[in-house]
Formats: sequence, structure tokens, C-alpha cells
Amino acid sequence: MILVLNGPNLNLLGRREPEVYGRGTLAELENACKRYGDEAGVPVRCRQSNHEGELLDWLHGAAAEGATGLVLNLGAYTHTSVALRDAVSGVALPAVEVHLSNVYARESFRHHSYLSAVCVGTITGLGVAGYGAAIRFLAERSRVG
Ligand code: DQA
Repeated sequence: MILVLNGPNLNLLGRREPEVYGRGTLAELENACKRYGDEAGVPVRCRQSNHEGELLDWLHGAAAEGATGLVLNLGAYTHTSVALRDAVSGVALPAVEVHLSNVYARESFRHHSYLSAVCVGTITGLGVAGYGAAIRFLAERSRVG
């Protein structure tokens, strides 16, 4: 199972800055992730929270609930949270960092990520398709071991 975690404000997708994030909703994004998982032959579980502690708890529990990989769009916590970085490095599951928008084409405070160094890689600016690329990569990786 691949666990997809979306962080703060991503529940507002569709209404929030559509010129930056598109018009699709979080429910549509999560359905697309499940479809990508079906195509890649791996179950996908999606969660979203606006609370750092809840995201931490989900990361800590990920392996025990059967996750073999993590797709992480932790929103603004990407740029601020040492605690989430420590959790990602602590759980020792392969993680891919995803951003809908191209963070490097935006404000400089978005150019630094606490997560990048503890993730296998980062996909930024490809919209929902970036989640698909991450899920396909993790599905393949879990098969080759
Ligand atoms: C985001 C980019 C972050 O800088 C921002 O704080 C978000 C969304 C993205 O998906 O493009 O909330 O992670």
C-alpha cells in the first residue's frame, strides 16, 4: 500500500488560488491517486490534515498499517517543519516529495524544503500528474525490493 499524505490547506483545492493549483478538488486528486494505484497494481490510501501532529502520527503508523512507500505533499510544512523531516527520516520508508505548483518559480521561501534530503526525490510543478509519477515509481520500487 502506498500512503499519500496531503498537508495544510490542500483541503481547499479547487477554491484556493486556482491559477496556481488548478480547479480540481482534493476529492478529485485522491480519486486520481487511487486510479494511478490501480493502473500500477498497488493499493493507495489518501489522507489530508491541517495539523502537524496528525501528520506526524500518520507517518509513525505508516509501516504498521502496511505502507511500502509514501507520497508527501506537506504543503507549507515542507518549508518549516523539522519535526516532519525527522519523522520521514525516522520511519525509513521510501518517500517522494510532491508539489502541485513549481515551487522554484514562486517566492524564495518556497525554494527550501526540509523534506527533500530525506526523500528519494522531488516532483514539483506537474500538478496531479506528479502524484501519478510518484505512485508509479514507488509501486515499481516495492516490486523490485
Ligand atoms: C504546495 C507548495 C507549497 O509551497 C504550499 O505551501 C502549498 C502547496 C504545492 O503543492 O504546490 O501549500 O506544496
